Amino acid sequence: MELPLLSLFALSFSLTILFGWVAADFLSLNHHSPSSPFPPNFLFGTASSSYQIEGAYLTDGKGLNNWDVFTHKPGTITDGSNGDVADDHYHRYKEDVDLMEDIGVNSYRFSISWARILPKGRFGKVNWAGIDYYNSLIDTLLSRGIEPFVTISHYDIPQELQQRYEGWLSPEIEKDFKYYADICFKNFGDRVKYWITFNEPNVAFICGYRKGLWPPGRCSGSFGNCTCGGDSEREPLIAGSNLLLSHATAVHLYRTKYQKTQGGRIGVAMNTKWFEPISNSSEDKKAAERAQSFYMNWFLDPLILGEYPREMREILGEYLPPLPYKLGKLKPAIDFIGVNHYTSYFVKDCIHSVCEPGDGSTRTEGFALTSPKMNGISIGEPTTLEWLYVYPQGMEKIVTYIKERFNNIPMFITENGIGMKENPNLTTKEMINDVERVEYLRAYLDSLATAIRKGADVRGYFLWSFLDNFEWTHGSSIRFGLHRVDYDTLDRTPRMSASWYKNFIALHASGRLATKPPHTQE
Ligand SMILES: *[C@@H]1O[C@H](CO)[C@@H](O)[C@H](O)[C@H]1NC(C)=O
Ligand SMILES: *[C@@H]1O[C@H](CO)[C@@H](O)[C@H](O)[C@H]1NC(C)=O
Ligand SMILES: *[C@@H]1O[C@H](CO)[C@@H](O)[C@H](O)[C@H]1NC(C)=O
Repeated sequence: MELPLLSLFALSFSLTILFGWVAADFLSLNHHSPSSPFPPNFLFGTASSSYQIEGAYLTDGKGLNNWDVFTHKPGTITDGSNGDVADDHYHRYKEDVDLMEDIGVNSYRFSISWARILPKGRFGKVNWAGIDYYNSLIDTLLSRGIEPFVTISHYDIPQELQQRYEGWLSPEIEKDFKYYADICFKNFGDRVKYWITFNEPNVAFICGYRKGLWPPGRCSGSFGNCTCGGDSEREPLIAGSNLLLSHATAVHLYRTKYQKTQGGRIGVAMNTKWFEPISNSSEDKKAAERAQSFYMNWFLDPLILGEYPREMREILGEYLPPLPYKLGKLKPAIDFIGVNHYTSYFVKDCIHSVCEPGDGSTRTEGFALTSPKMNGISIGEPTTLEWLYVYPQGMEKIVTYIKERFNNIPMFITENGIGMKENPNLTTKEMINDVERVEYLRAYLDSLATAIRKGADVRGYFLWSFLDNFEWTHGSSIRFGLHRVDYDTLDRTPRMSASWYKNFIALHASGRLATKPPHTQE
């Protein structure tokens, strides 16, 4: 079903290119704001993270972080690259903000590098060059009417904290995160009105402590091949509880010391997948619920409802560390949910039937096998990125699920996009002709619009990503950018998708931010 449909899209798209695709694109979209499903002051942005774009890994006093150390170990990154230079955004941010202004975004999600501000965590000095850098970035954005939307930690922690007390495995990290967050609120909070404490703790801890594929590379038994120890069944949960504790402390600090005067909001960003039961049996449907609980609700339930999901409590029992007492007093401990969404997977029950080994099948993952391909069917069109299958309906489904489970708490789509390998045989002109990305974005945004029309309180959309960048263990081999980056010259070239997004925003945005950011208008 998906495959012929997408080829048809591609064909019709290629035809429209012949006849001037920009004009055709205008015709194919809803005409103008009154009919636009996106509410007034909707944030249309792009997203990035510090390690993936900044480079400058030892410049101006920055300390080493966990990813600097990890990527320098042989064998960790498929193409042997690292983020030492990345897009060199640290030195080129002005040029990059120009490119954002060209697209017409009214917001930009980026992350602050913890080790650029605190090279040794709370055990060393503040690096004022780092503070200056983010001040300049924020001021440059605001001078162009672009609202900064800031992640405090996007997978990165100073390596010092890893060495001193094993990072997320120790409750000591609460003190470090509080110290760091306080510096961020104090120095940037007069201008930053949207904060995300952490990006995708579920992915960070599944990859870092269950499978051992990300720093600190810990796992046990059949979960992965780790040489430095670990416990795949306990450590992800311990790291999770220490992160919830750190989050609670930072939110309490923000609410008591800063929020009244600064008037911003604070949330968290989760990786989300839509989990579709492989059959209509009640076992598979319950398995799909369990998959959601062990993946996304693992963090969202404690933060919003004040307890772990029922399925986790029942299956994990004493493996689940107690929740920090503080969380209950903050309920909800977030002002909004950041939803990162790319793809959807099938789910099969492993309690009542035998599952082959795979993601989700073990007890600690909730006995719910998840895969984009099952029983010979793909959930959507495969892409050159092995985990990403195109299933646009998943956007409406996950947003609606979150709306219903969490009483329609405000949401921002903090990431959505498609990454791909580049065929080296193409000319540069062909490389920027990213029809597949445009079709993906068009379909996912359409699905999001449906969820919004049906009442979901979604307030913004951040396209991942602004530039091609360092894609974690895939290194530079997977490209997510609206702009192509030539990694030899670091030249940026807008792709077709950049022009497409520009037109989309022009049609749907109710206007660029004037003087007042949208949060002041309620
Ligand atoms: C661990 O390594 C062995 C030998 O290379 C391989 O067969 C196995 O699939 C790996 N296990 C995991 C979980 O990656
Ligand atoms: C489940 O039931 C619905 C409604 O009857 C149907 O549309 C769908 O195809 C069924 N799904 C499967 C996997 O059989
Ligand atoms: C590029 O061209 C070479 C030589 O013709 C071919 O072997 C290779 O498969 C091509 N690569 C891709 C990704 O199409």
